[in-house]
Amino acid sequence: MTNRKGIDIAVVGATGLVGREILSVLEKTKFPVGKLLPFNSGRKAASVKFRGKSIAARGATLEALAEAQLVFMVSSDEVSEQWGRALAERGVWVIDDSAAFRLADDVPLVIPEVNADAMTKDKRLIAGPNCTLTGAAVAGWPIIQKAGVKAIRMASYQAVSGAGREALNEFRSHVRAANGALKKADPLALPSEPKASAMPKTAAFNVFPQVGSFNAEGECSEEVKVRKELRKIWGRPNLPVSATTVRVPVFRGHSLAFWLETERPVTPDEAKKLLTGAPGVELWKNGGYPTPLGTGGSYPVHVSRIRPGAHERELALWVVSDNLLKGAALNSVQIAEALLKKGWL
Ligand SMILES: NC(=O)c1ccc[n+]([C@@H]2O[C@H](COP(=O)([O-])OP(=O)(O)OC[C@H]3O[C@@H](n4cnc5c(N)ncnc54)[C@H](OP(=O)(O)O)[C@@H]3O)[C@@H](O)[C@H]2O)c1
Repeated sequence: MTNRKGIDIAVVGATGLVGREILSVLEKTKFPVGKLLPFNSGRKAASVKFRGKSIAARGATLEALAEAQLVFMVSSDEVSEQWGRALAERGVWVIDDSAAFRLADDVPLVIPEVNADAMTKDKRLIAGPNCTLTGAAVAGWPIIQKAGVKAIRMASYQAVSGAGREALNEFRSHVRAANGALKKADPLALPSEPKASAMPKTAAFNVFPQVGSFNAEGECSEEVKVRKELRKIWGRPNLPVSATTVRVPVFRGHSLAFWLETERPVTPDEAKKLLTGAPGVELWKNGGYPTPLGTGGSYPVHVSRIRPGAHERELALWVVSDNLLKGAALNSVQIAEALLKKGWL
């Protein structure tokens, strides 16, 4: 239960891209934070800003983390594996944004607008999903509840910030280098392709169909995550899902071309009605459509261009959502808010 001074919260990875957004969402939503305990790798001195104060981040230990009632884990799979279960066993609520526990049978994988009922009082370790499928999961859910689902197909256009701070910094330096090259007189001269180290290819002025590593079937790990996590969140364990995940030169905001094949026919107008006012959805009407540049930093899943797909049981949609917010930090804070509302925190 909340004490009078609020809930003591630790953020592991507070200095990273998602960690910074968690602090910002906690501030904006006026979540009742008592003590804020920020953690980083401990490799160099760093501090974070929270409610106008600068707070030093430090390296994590189990004892230090267990001082909190709620721990947001936004660091890496390895760090989450190190602390996640041990903290939950000590009675600390853990909301984990890494991929470490998402598919574990005993860990709820939660998007509150879709499957808040997956949370139970005794399961103190809760996972948030991969940022790419979140938009599809939220946008598709009101339609699926009405018309069922037979198959999902999607192509993603993913921002560089989805790969973390190092990738984003590398992208920015590649853009600066390429801008220099564009001063050449020949308009057809390509900028040179600088060597990428944080991602498989350079993202500046480029597009590449690889997010994560490839498996023996030629799928990349992001494509596998989209399939497996969507199945778990929607409670459709055998749903056919085909995704092509693509990195594009965008700072923040993942976009999806998304085809939803339903069991029963549903017209675009019916789908629009179902999505009007649906939780977490902003429906774009009158021909408008969202872009990642125009909607970056915003909270909702933006849905637009709802039109017929390949046949009467398929819809095609354009969906944009902020990978750092609804794809990670905002979703995690919403999970915490749901715990608070249930009186479990
Ligand atoms: N980026 C996204 O859009 C997104 C979306 C959904 C989920 N996620 C997941 O969220 C997590 C964080 O992603 P991110 O993009 O924010 O990464 P990031 O920008 O690279 O930040 C990583 C953070 O982890 C900290 N860290 C590194 N090693 C640590 C250790 N041993 N102990 C404690 N902290 C450590 C870093 O601290 P230093 O400052 O000391 O290096 C930094 O604060 C990842 O698991 C990622 O898969 C990310």
